[in-house]
Amino acid sequence: MNESTYFSGRVSADPHRNRLAILAARLASEGRAILNLSESNPTRCGLFPEGVLAALSNAASLEYHPDPRGLPGARQALALRLDCEPDDLFLAASTSEAYGWLFKLLCDPGDAVLVPKPGYPLFDYLAGLEGVRAIPYRLEYKHADGWFIDLDGLEQAAAATGARALVVINPNNPTGSFIRPAERARLVDFCSRNGMALISDEVFLPYALEADGSQESLGGQDGCLTFILDGLSKLMCLPQLKLGWIRVGGPPALRGQAMARLEVIADTYLSAGAPAMNALPLLLPGADAFVARTRRRLLLNLGVLKERFGGDDSPFRVLRCDGGWIALLECPRIETDEDLALGLLEAEGVAVHPGYFFDFEREGCLALSLLLEPPRFAEGVDRLGRFLDRIIE
Ligand SMILES: Cc1ncc(COP(=O)(O)O)c(C=O)c1O
Repeated sequence: MNESTYFSGRVSADPHRNRLAILAARLASEGRAILNLSESNPTRCGLFPEGVLAALSNAASLEYHPDPRGLPGARQALALRLDCEPDDLFLAASTSEAYGWLFKLLCDPGDAVLVPKPGYPLFDYLAGLEGVRAIPYRLEYKHADGWFIDLDGLEQAAAATGARALVVINPNNPTGSFIRPAERARLVDFCSRNGMALISDEVFLPYALEADGSQESLGGQDGCLTFILDGLSKLMCLPQLKLGWIRVGGPPALRGQAMARLEVIADTYLSAGAPAMNALPLLLPGADAFVARTRRRLLLNLGVLKERFGGDDSPFRVLRCDGGWIALLECPRIETDEDLALGLLEAEGVAVHPGYFFDFEREGCLALSLLLEPPRFAEGVDRLGRFLDRIIE
């Protein structure tokens, strides 16, 4: 009997190991140490806020108070930070889970949502697991102004697919681009005209790097139904605590309808854990200082990268990085970015993400994580430079 008789088409058993993962596994089996210049797990980069263990040992967590929106104390602390009402908030186990809830709320199987390209590769899975199609809209790069949304393309994608939601990442991963003030108004109008919800993923919002100061949250506006996503995994570099949140906004009647339905979904899972929720009011007061410390590291590493590869006569280009944790290095198109990444790993033991992981239109882009401890980052950049110099010779 065919296996599809048993299983849905949403998940494949094919582990889909790309050539880089296969090479990395071989090098590891040969005992080669790898310097992972794409490390995005902050707990492997020595970034921990103060007081996490103390905040987690709260006796209140011995009791179970199921609340579909999440414990009131946690939502009150969050509402204070976000300048909203505790009842506008839903706590989930992660931002990724929150996407799943929102796709269930907004879409029927087969419906479409619009997602940015280049963008975060998890979308195809998050949407696919809900039976939803993730349809890309383009971001275009203009040096040195940065990335712009192709608004005409967005309109066409909406018309062609009848999409139920527009997903924006503010700032986007990996392009680091914030939604620009002029784009903000256009996107809200676009969603309102098309009867579409706006989902704004703002996990990297506090990590502004080269931004001009005009960046802001899409929360708190009434022009269209809006869901703002965030969580501890980026705000305080604590992905292991598993706590994310949704802030619901928009025209009051629509917002009320959305929250009543979202409550049913959240009540079905009750997935945010008490230890993380009880820790939140203790952790949040330290968030701004922690973000400031982390930003200093990101800026320092970005400076090292620009020093090595920037400059008008350089054959390389560090793309404008308004925010986030990733820097993009554009190389002359001598090889595909996959071949560059494979060659670098083999020759120098340095791992980077090739642009194709994020659906870049142009070849030759490499994505580097700015999170690494600065001496390690500098060592990785040094080896990367040595390798690239040999290639373009
Ligand atoms: C843009 C973006 N959103 C969400 C997430 C996932 O966050 P969480 O750990 O809360 O699921 C990531 C993780 O890298 C991300 O890059």
